[in-house]
Order: sequence, then C-alpha cells, then structure tokens
Amino acid sequence: MRPAIIFGTRPEIIKLSPVIRGFLEKNVEPLLIHTGQHYDYEMSKIFLEELELPEIDYHLEVGSGTQAEQTGIAMIKIEKVLMEEKPDVSIVQGDTNTVLAGALASVKLLIPVAHVEAGLRSFDRTMPEEINRILADHASEVLFAPTEEAKKNLEKEGIVENVYVVGNTIVDAVLQNSEIAERKSKILKELGLKEKEYILVTAHRKENVDYREKLEKLVDILTSLPLTVVYPMHPRTKKRLEEFGLINKLNKENIIITKPLGYLDFLKLEKNAKIIMTDSGGIQEEAIILGVPCLTLRYNTERPETVKAGGNILVGLEKERVLYYVTKLLEDEEFYEKMASAKNPFGDGNAGKRIVEILLELKAKGKLKVRS
Ligand code: UD1
Ligand code: UDP
Repeated sequence: MRPAIIFGTRPEIIKLSPVIRGFLEKNVEPLLIHTGQHYDYEMSKIFLEELELPEIDYHLEVGSGTQAEQTGIAMIKIEKVLMEEKPDVSIVQGDTNTVLAGALASVKLLIPVAHVEAGLRSFDRTMPEEINRILADHASEVLFAPTEEAKKNLEKEGIVENVYVVGNTIVDAVLQNSEIAERKSKILKELGLKEKEYILVTAHRKENVDYREKLEKLVDILTSLPLTVVYPMHPRTKKRLEEFGLINKLNKENIIITKPLGYLDFLKLEKNAKIIMTDSGGIQEEAIILGVPCLTLRYNTERPETVKAGGNILVGLEKERVLYYVTKLLEDEEFYEKMASAKNPFGDGNAGKRIVEILLELKAKGKLKVRS
C-alpha cells in the first residue's frame, strides 16, 4: 500500500499528523506531497518539526496567488508527481485550495481520493472553502466524516457510499500534544500572561479581513475588549491591516500581537485562555475540546456541533453582541461554566488510527479504486 498525503497549509499539517503517524505505526510509509500553499517558517516548517513528521518527499512551492492561480498551479504540479509515483490513494484534508487541487488532479488520473473531514457545510457559497469542500467531497471515493451531522450533509447530496464517521483528527492532535505543550511551552511567561486572564484572538478569514469596512469592525471590537488580548496574527491579516493603514490602531497597552505561533505555544495559549475569539475552523474545534468558551467572529459555521453543544456562540463582527457575551462570561460564573463544560462532539482521539485501518482494509479487499 502506497498512500500519498497531499497537504500545504498549517491546519492540514496539524490534522493529518495523526494519519501519518497511524500509517507509520503500521509500517506503511506515506508519500508526502507539500504544495507550499503556506511557506513561511511559522506557517509550515515549524509544524513539521514540532510534530516530528518524516521528511517531505515533494515540495511543490506553489505559493500565493489568486484562487485560480493557486489551485491551477497546484493541480499541474501535483499531477506530475502523481503520474510518476502512481500512489494507491490520495489523502486530502479539509477545504483549502490544496485540497481541491489534490482531489481533482488525483481523480482524473483514476487515483482514488480519500477526504478527511468530509461533509462539512457552512451553506455559504461565497466562501472559497465551501466550494472546495463540496467539490472535493464529490471527487472523493472514501469520505471520512467527523460527525453524524457531516454524514447527513453528504447524504443530502447523494453521497452515501464509503462514508465513515470516524471523529475529527484534531482531537488526536490535541490529545497527543497538549500535555507536551503544557510541559514545554514557556509562552505565558514570555508574553507576561497569567492563566485565565486574557482573551486569545485569531482572525484570518478572507470575508473578515480582505474588506476595509469589515477589518475596521474587527479592529473596533479588539480595541474595546475589557481584558488583555493576545493575537497571534496570520500573514493575510497583517498584510491587510498594513495595506488599509489600520495596524497602528492596535497599538494599545492591553493588546499583544505576535507572529503566528508554533503548535505547542498555541495550544498552551488556548488551554489557559479565559475566552477564545476566532474565525478559524480548527480553533472552534480545539476550544470545545479544551473546555474554553469560544466566540466565533462569523455569521455561520460549518462546525454547528460546537454551537449545539453549547461551547460556541456566533457573534459575527457585531461589537454589541461581542461585548455582551464577553461581559456575561466574565461576570456570570454559571454561564461561564456551562460553556466551558460543553461536550466535545468530535470523537475520542482515535480518528487517525481508524482512517488508516479503513484504508488498509479497503485496499486489501480490492475496493480502493475509482468507481466506473
Ligand atoms: C488558507 C485557506 C483557509 C485556511 C487557511 C489556514 C484557501 C482558500 N484558504 O487561507 O481555508 O483557513 O489557509 O491558515 O485555501 N501568506 C504569507 N505566508 C504564508 C502563507 C500566506 O505571507 O506562508 C499570505 C500571502 O499574502 C497570501 C495570504 O497570506 O496571499 C493568503 O494565503 P492563502 O494560502 O491564499 O490563504 P489563507 O488565508 O492562508
Ligand atoms: N494554530 C497555531 N498557531 C497559530 C494559530 C493557529 O498552531 O498561531 C493552529 C491551531 O491550533 C489550529 C490550526 O492552527 O490547530 C488552525 O489553523 P487556521 O486557523 O490557520 O486554519 P483553519 O482551521 O481556519 O482552516
């Protein structure tokens, strides 16, 4: 069995690390193809190092560009590798342009695609990620849905074969790394922070940061928060804040901006935050896994399970709404505890192992192929 793992961004490295480990435990060496969608040290290599992943077999150096440029160049480069290597299956994870490029390049070469984190839907087709998810799911042969809800989304679109509810590999990654983070990371001391006395913020989504008026709203929210704010900033956001001349507005005594952090430091910051405020997908998941109340800076989410479980509230970029919930969380202990004790809906931390076992079994039965 020779699986190819195609990835290229920060969350994909983190969420595929349990799958890579799972294969290595079964003495299967996956072919690792990194598109280079993320290329800064702190957006990519730091995770390969911290998570102790094997050497990447192919660095495709796709880099940044428009949606079509990035996806198209990635497809062309991925196709070349796949034609040479002829893997048994291509594994992609999530909803990035790397995923769409990997899925399309593979299926057209009749290499079956296994999609990890299949079936998520925000039902907002203005998000590039929503288009990527839908198309990747429809191009895939094996679908690893994290929850029953994700499986139902697939069913509604007629995808019923080879769908497996396995949990989300983010639980594996958090469980495998949070104890190490607790021991090794010195980030609280470095930033002069005390446990449960700060709000951890991240925002990088196109719809929030690429438009001046939206970014102004975000800045207005961040500068109104009544607690220390720690914001490890995604390069997209930094670029836009500079372009729109808004970066200096964040020069405030209670706001700490850092470069993007490694996984161990970031996990430590998440675990010890009083509140997490984010537009990230993975961080909405990690917040409920770690028992930290999450306010999501979006109007919809493809992770509705976190909202239903009571650990996540959609606040959009509505300052009044954000401040209402921040104040409530800081002043109403019962409300805080209720959010903090919401049950993790993403499984038991064995998703990576399950994915590997299922793929090995399908291969053994001769069922790992593109349907005719
Ligand atoms: C991508 C994904 C998004 C995911 C995010 C994870 C798509 C459509 N979006 O968004 O779903 O949540 O990754 O973080 O695939 N840049 C750098 N250095 C880097 C990478 C990016 O400076 O290493 C800057 C560039 O200016 C680039 C911008 O960030 O144009 C956006 O990068 P891109 O990969 O296109 O999208 P993300 O916002 O990272
Ligand atoms: N993350 C990190 N350092 C940071 C910010 C995020 O290690 O400075 C991790 C975070 O713990 C999560 C993942 O990156 O596992 C989320 O990535 P991101 O928010 O970029 O993408 P999304 O999940 O929205 O696709």
